[in-house]
Amino acid sequence: MKIISVVGARPNFMKVAPFCRALKAYPDVQHILVHTGQHYDVRMSEQFFKELDIPNPDINLEIGSGSHAEQVGRTMIEFEKVLRAEKPDWVVVLGDVNATCACSITAKKEHIKCAHIEAGLRSRDMDMPEEINRLVTDRLSDLLFTPDRLSNANLKAEGVEDEKIKFVGNIMIDTLERQREKAAALDINKVVRENLIDEWGGRGVPALKERGYVAMTMHRPSNVDQREPLEPAMRFFLDEVTKEYPSVWAIHPRAQKMLKEFGLWDEVVANDNMILVKPLGYHAMLRLNMGARLFMTDSGGLQEECCVLGTPCLTMRWNTERPITLMENGGASILVGNAVEKMREAYRSQINAERHAMRPELWDGKTAERIAKVLVEA
Ligand code: UD1
Repeated sequence: MKIISVVGARPNFMKVAPFCRALKAYPDVQHILVHTGQHYDVRMSEQFFKELDIPNPDINLEIGSGSHAEQVGRTMIEFEKVLRAEKPDWVVVLGDVNATCACSITAKKEHIKCAHIEAGLRSRDMDMPEEINRLVTDRLSDLLFTPDRLSNANLKAEGVEDEKIKFVGNIMIDTLERQREKAAALDINKVVRENLIDEWGGRGVPALKERGYVAMTMHRPSNVDQREPLEPAMRFFLDEVTKEYPSVWAIHPRAQKMLKEFGLWDEVVANDNMILVKPLGYHAMLRLNMGARLFMTDSGGLQEECCVLGTPCLTMRWNTERPITLMENGGASILVGNAVEKMREAYRSQINAERHAMRPELWDGKTAERIAKVLVEA
């Protein structure tokens, strides 16, 4: 059997690592790893391959940055050539990035079976590019591997046949469990010092204590591409949060670009309690999360990691495709959107809250093995 799996952007890498490992148990399977090249910086891509022992991609499509149509279009054109040359039995796509959608469409147009890992998540927010990617991919896929039972229900409600839906758990948690010890052994102050942005210069960094700092990330277009939600949120961090706790913000290239464009960057950089670090590697981010008093983020993956680690998490979105991680369902996350009032209220209620770890059904570190078994027997 020949399987091509596809990755393109950062959140794919922690999902593909355990899948590559699980396939090694099947010597008859020929596995080809394709990287579309959507993320290309060392810190957004290569370092995850090294840290998580992901084999080097066999093929890189080098599509780079661009509008959605440019990224999806270029990926389809290049991936079609790969499929025609390799003729795999299965194409495996992961998550909800542009590679996921582009390669599932290309596979089906070439009459090749497609499997989707992390199927069935729905935010019902059609302004999110990821929601479009999820809908298209799930509609086309022949096997849909779901992380939780809520996702099964979403797919059934859309009319997906039962035989296609396989509830296997969350593959990202396979990686978390495998890497947890390595992350825990890191010194948080060293992690921060080693990853400071260049503009931090020779300034001293406030010493971080366990549960004595707030961690942050923000990168969604809906939060950073316009001044309106970005500036008030930034004011809240600078004027309120950092006055109480040193805060570590791992800056995504998109957020950094937009802060500069709106003339807000210099003020963020000047704040001594707002510690700005470059995009972090997997272990560094996990370590940051383990010691944080509170996490503020708009990332779906971090929402899930906070849930399993028990870090109180303010999710800077109005909806989530991952409702299983919400406090009302036993998780650690509260939706605060991008309204400062709501952020402040949730921050006040959670900043002194105890850690409360929750492990949804089948988030047990063995998801990739279950997926590999289903695929090779399909
Ligand atoms: C993509 C995913 C998103 C995911 C996020 C994680 C889609 C639709 N979006 O969004 O779901 O949460 O990755 O990071 O696939 N850039 C660099 N270096 C890089 C890559 C990008 O500097 O290696 C800059 C470029 O200026 C680019 C911008 O970041 O224009 C945005 O990158 P892009 O890949 O278009 O989308 P993300 O916001 O990263």
